[in-house]
Amino acid sequence: MEFTTDIFSQFDKKWALLTAGTEDDFNTMTISWGGLGTIWNKPVATVYVRESRYTHDFMDKNEFFTVSFYPERYKKELGVLGAKSGREMDKMKGSGLTAVKAGNSMSFKEAEVTLVCRKLFMQRLIKENMPEDVVKSLYADNDFHDMYIGEVTEILKQ
Ligand SMILES: Cc1cc2nc3c(=O)[nH]c(=O)nc-3n(C[C@H](O)[C@H](O)[C@H](O)COP(=O)(O)O)c2cc1C
Repeated sequence: MEFTTDIFSQFDKKWALLTAGTEDDFNTMTISWGGLGTIWNKPVATVYVRESRYTHDFMDKNEFFTVSFYPERYKKELGVLGAKSGREMDKMKGSGLTAVKAGNSMSFKEAEVTLVCRKLFMQRLIKENMPEDVVKSLYADNDFHDMYIGEVTEILKQ
């Protein structure tokens, strides 16, 4: 398994899609916060999902999720998937991307790289442990992020 990238710009500048669920019932959303690293001697991907996201339900219901990265030309599609909720649109049909099975989860044909992840751990980011300015600027509405750590079980390259 190998994936070489400039990890800071990979999430922050290029963005990614976080997808969870099965062929019949999945959801996806754009993310720009995340990390790749190691814990408990396993290669892992870490993502942060606000409780209000429809994708949050799918992260809780499913053992696997994927993090997928796209060529620059799909930025517009990623913008839409990061602005509209799966509660208001059919993300499978309306996203402009082609959903495909990826290991035990789902991704999209247009992805350059898909990390298939098995959920290992999740925890709420509680405000008591955050810097005050972060609480003020990002959590005035109490819609906190949950952190999900997944073991990267496969790296699929299209
Ligand atoms: C560039 C970008 C990055 C985003 N990153 C995150 C993120 O890391 N975590 C998060 O909870 N929401 C993030 N969002 C917001 C969700 O993608 C957005 O609320 C989406 O509509 C949720 O879809 P859902 O309700 O179908 O899950 C981001 C949005 C954009 C445009």
